[in-house]
Amino acid sequence: MRYSKMLREHFDGINLMAEDLLLLESFQIKYLPERVPQNEFATLIREYPLIKNHLVSKNPSVRNFIYTVLKENETIEDKSLIKKHIDELLWEIADLIVYNKSPEIYDEKAKFKWNIDEIIAKKSITGKVVTDVGAGSGMLAFLLSQYAETVYAIEPLSSFRTFIRQKAINENCRNVYAVDGFLDSIPFPDDFFDILFTSNAIGWNIEKELQEIERVVKPHGQAIHLIRINKNVTENPVHERLVSGEWNYTFSKTHDTDGLKLKYIKTIR
Ligand SMILES: C[S@@+](CC[C@H](N)C(=O)[O-])C[C@H]1O[C@@H](n2cnc3c(N)ncnc32)[C@H](O)[C@@H]1O
Repeated sequence: MRYSKMLREHFDGINLMAEDLLLLESFQIKYLPERVPQNEFATLIREYPLIKNHLVSKNPSVRNFIYTVLKENETIEDKSLIKKHIDELLWEIADLIVYNKSPEIYDEKAKFKWNIDEIIAKKSITGKVVTDVGAGSGMLAFLLSQYAETVYAIEPLSSFRTFIRQKAINENCRNVYAVDGFLDSIPFPDDFFDILFTSNAIGWNIEKELQEIERVVKPHGQAIHLIRINKNVTENPVHERLVSGEWNYTFSKTHDTDGLKLKYIKTIR
């Protein structure tokens, strides 16, 4: 398993149930073939045909994957092993579930925070129209809102958009707007933003995303991508594309307690 150990530690105390898969939005269902351990997933969808039907009807692109997984993985009879498989599957995708089920817990448990001085000079963002794409619970968007004129927090998940709107009301923050959208399909006109930010939110469809960023940022505006990781950057294909001669981002990194903070910055021509 790639993520379950880390996610169990990170979201310790959260109760996950098979039915939580019914909360996934269509674009998250599309990510399942790359994320789920197939044997464990086959066990879950055999036990819960309702969930299998729901996933396929909400995103038909996973139909073939589901039928292949069922064909290639044997049925399990042992009840305790079935329980173990389902538990393991749910923890492997716990981040996707928590985003929908408990956005406030995602927000509370964020282990690290960005500091404005490590991102951008305050005078460079003052009075600017900016966006945080893949904004999640809006951690970066709310930080930027202290300096920028307007912050559009673009986020495809409705649970996070609702969370951001409520937090903006609670904190009387009048310049943050939560907007539905994807990084490879940003619902704004050409040359709209002074600065576009992402924080741990790039690389689902990297070429299209980078083209889209060039379209929506004004000439002489900036694109800044922040990534917090635990492992070495050279293993990361997104890093390779950003620093490639074609996209020409300038890269810098700083160490924090148990990881690395990466920053990629580019002035758009
Ligand atoms: C790892 S979280 C990071 C959230 C936030 N930026 C932060 O730093 O806490 C990734 C976020 O990107 C969103 N997301 C997933 N696919 C996306 C896409 N194709 N375009 C934009 N955002 C996406 C997810 O819903 C989630 O909120």
